[in-house]
Amino acid sequence: MRFSTQSEFQDFHRMLISWMHLRRDQSVFRQRSEDSSALQYFQQQNMLQDFLRTATYQKAMLLNEDDFKDKVVLDVGCGTGILSFFAVQAGAQKVYAVEASTVAKYAEMLVRSNGLSNKITVLSGRIEEVSCPEKVDVIISEPMGYMLLNERMLESFLHAKHWLKPKGMMFPTQSDIHLAPFTDEHLYMEHHARSNFWNQSCFYGVNLSGLHSSAVDEFFKQPIVDTFDMQILMARSVKYTINFLEAKEEDLHRLEIPFVFKLLQSGLIHGLAFWFDVAFVGSKMTIWLSTSPTEPLTHWYQVRCLLQTPLFAKMGQTLSGHVHLIANKRQSYDIHISAVVDQSGFKSGNSLDLKNPFFRYA
Ligand SMILES: C[S@@+](CC[C@H](N)C(=O)[O-])C[C@H]1O[C@@H](n2cnc3c(N)ncnc32)[C@H](O)[C@@H]1O
Repeated sequence: MRFSTQSEFQDFHRMLISWMHLRRDQSVFRQRSEDSSALQYFQQQNMLQDFLRTATYQKAMLLNEDDFKDKVVLDVGCGTGILSFFAVQAGAQKVYAVEASTVAKYAEMLVRSNGLSNKITVLSGRIEEVSCPEKVDVIISEPMGYMLLNERMLESFLHAKHWLKPKGMMFPTQSDIHLAPFTDEHLYMEHHARSNFWNQSCFYGVNLSGLHSSAVDEFFKQPIVDTFDMQILMARSVKYTINFLEAKEEDLHRLEIPFVFKLLQSGLIHGLAFWFDVAFVGSKMTIWLSTSPTEPLTHWYQVRCLLQTPLFAKMGQTLSGHVHLIANKRQSYDIHISAVVDQSGFKSGNSLDLKNPFFRYA
């Protein structure tokens, strides 16, 4: 897919969004999601412009051509079909491109205008409901949301294994969620300041302060989507791996991530920072797509969850606890964090709503 100017791309993007708005009542997603949730999800088409993301997918397939040459491929959630085109570039004999939203129609148009109707078949519908005409050698998809899990599309990716031949490949093959404690006094104060509006004692003659503490609670439930300097991290990250060849859909309904961090600096721990990497394990080479703060920024940014009260800890001490991630019906997760500084017994935690993040990145 090529656009000769940025404004041509923007016109196309606007057309897609407005068409999806008009047709959303017919969306298959209504069966499992609230309107607002599906709408928000569809609007995230800015991924098309994420160079690192798109280029890494292409690289992973082209550098592992042997895994695609003359193979049958299933593209789960093909969107406009970009990954299906990459699979054909890598030598795929046939690609079934499944798309639940009305964007399927545009994928079909691109397939036709690129003269690839003999290679790519667009199947309109949810992967959980469509019938793939044959079993496939490789499943490709881009199912990652904020903090990897938001949108709950990984479950659909795993569901698709129903169509995978024994010894078939999953592209991406595995993912690592990373978490690490961070210190950021400025962020913490800024978050508190956001709720100061509710501290007014005379707002048009009304005292709002009775709602102040509830407002603070609400703001602290918001994970923060932005990026930061590595130096705020107070320990090496802990990693939680999901192997897409082995995991089952149900494994993603409830995740428990235990952690023990050995602190590399003394100070106040304000929360936990999260990011993820995915690996494309091909027979020739493994390619990583990383959303780490050490790597170029992607449209996934990083996600930070504040603790309700910061914890003081000294270098060499350990912070232990766990993160529970519980899937909800809003295509997202409830996040529960509990943490203790083992040597002092200081405890803190928080419960957050991944569906309602605060986009801080300017
Ligand atoms: C993150 S986008 C990726 C689009 C495209 N593969 C790309 O890389 O540009 C995910 C796409 O998957 C679709 N999708 C989500 N859940 C799906 C499901 N259960 N079955 C089919 N498509 C789904 C969405 O409508 C969206 O177009």
